[in-house]
Amino acid sequence: MLLRRCRSREGPTERLGWSTRRCAGWSCPHGGQRVHPQPVARVSVTAGIRPPVCIAIDPAGLAGRPGNLIPVNRADGERVDAGSLTGVSETALLTLNARAYQARHPNPVIDDPMAIQLADAIDFDFGKFGRRGQETAVRALAFDRAAARYLTRRPSAVVVALAEGLQTSFWRLNSALPDATFRWVTVDLPPVVELRRRLLPSSPRILSIAQSALDYTWMDQVDASDGVFITAEGLLMYLQPDEAMGLIRECANRFPGGQMMFDLPPVLVKRLAPNGMRASRRYRVPPMPFSMSASQLAELAGTVPGIHAVHDLPMPHGRGLVFDRLFPAFWQLRLTKQIRGAYTLLDFG
Ligand SMILES: C[S@@+](CC[C@H](N)C(=O)[O-])C[C@H]1O[C@@H](n2cnc3c(N)ncnc32)[C@H](O)[C@@H]1O
Repeated sequence: MLLRRCRSREGPTERLGWSTRRCAGWSCPHGGQRVHPQPVARVSVTAGIRPPVCIAIDPAGLAGRPGNLIPVNRADGERVDAGSLTGVSETALLTLNARAYQARHPNPVIDDPMAIQLADAIDFDFGKFGRRGQETAVRALAFDRAAARYLTRRPSAVVVALAEGLQTSFWRLNSALPDATFRWVTVDLPPVVELRRRLLPSSPRILSIAQSALDYTWMDQVDASDGVFITAEGLLMYLQPDEAMGLIRECANRFPGGQMMFDLPPVLVKRLAPNGMRASRRYRVPPMPFSMSASQLAELAGTVPGIHAVHDLPMPHGRGLVFDRLFPAFWQLRLTKQIRGAYTLLDFG
């Protein structure tokens, strides 16, 4: 794959802590001068690796489909019906919509042109989800950064994205990491994997497994010889506590040397909204029966065989006073640590 940096100008995303630039290419969803002779992917590079750059993708680029980074595998331009996603699987549309919305924003939290194209390719009443805050995009940044740190140390590792939904993380990371060779395993329920298959480009580096993450046979298909980074972004909270803990235990048992990252909501959520939180007048998020406080999470290192360390990761900065300053500062306070949600990274020994 050939990657070329495009000309770029300083953008408004300096709050992310990088010397950031914004794409000036014609396909940049945020506009800009015409610089590129061909489609452009705007890519946020994960913090601590290198600053975000705009990257022009060779016509035979990472999608492996000539001249097309656009994920929509549909020549007829018809949008794909997503009515098959129900229950927790429907929340994959909620989180996609949130990332796409934040990627479209003139001052984006996340650079994710594929999320925009993917959302545009799906025929669904996204409006029913109500507001589209920054939290989902910020969460995606936290996962990208941890995965990029691992892949920088172990470039040929495999990333297992449990409950991947309609994430486009493979392409964000692939563009962010020079000469990326990591492999990718998607695990999600059959209707979600089918939608991914219809809409997203295939790659010899991606294996999709259409089954529950709780059916541990997916582990047999993971070649962990070069390292493994497991993500469970927006999954564990929807599982029963014994299911979530069983999954963590089995991952620790099966993948020594690997890491696993997951997020959890504040412990109060399961108490205050046992039937699920109302997101809008027309939509209620499914119940979230599993969560743990920071101190319970820290104890995993001493109580679950194979877990050597538990890292409580910071909240990435978003946009505006609340997401740039207040939430990240609140997240770091000792006082609030036990009641807030968590981005947790486990080291398996
Ligand atoms: C909130 S969405 C998160 C999707 C994606 N990770 C994201 O952040 O956009 C929850 C996802 O969990 C998936 N899911 C729910 N139960 C699952 C299970 N037992 N095994 C695998 N995936 C599951 C759903 O299909 C859905 O894609």
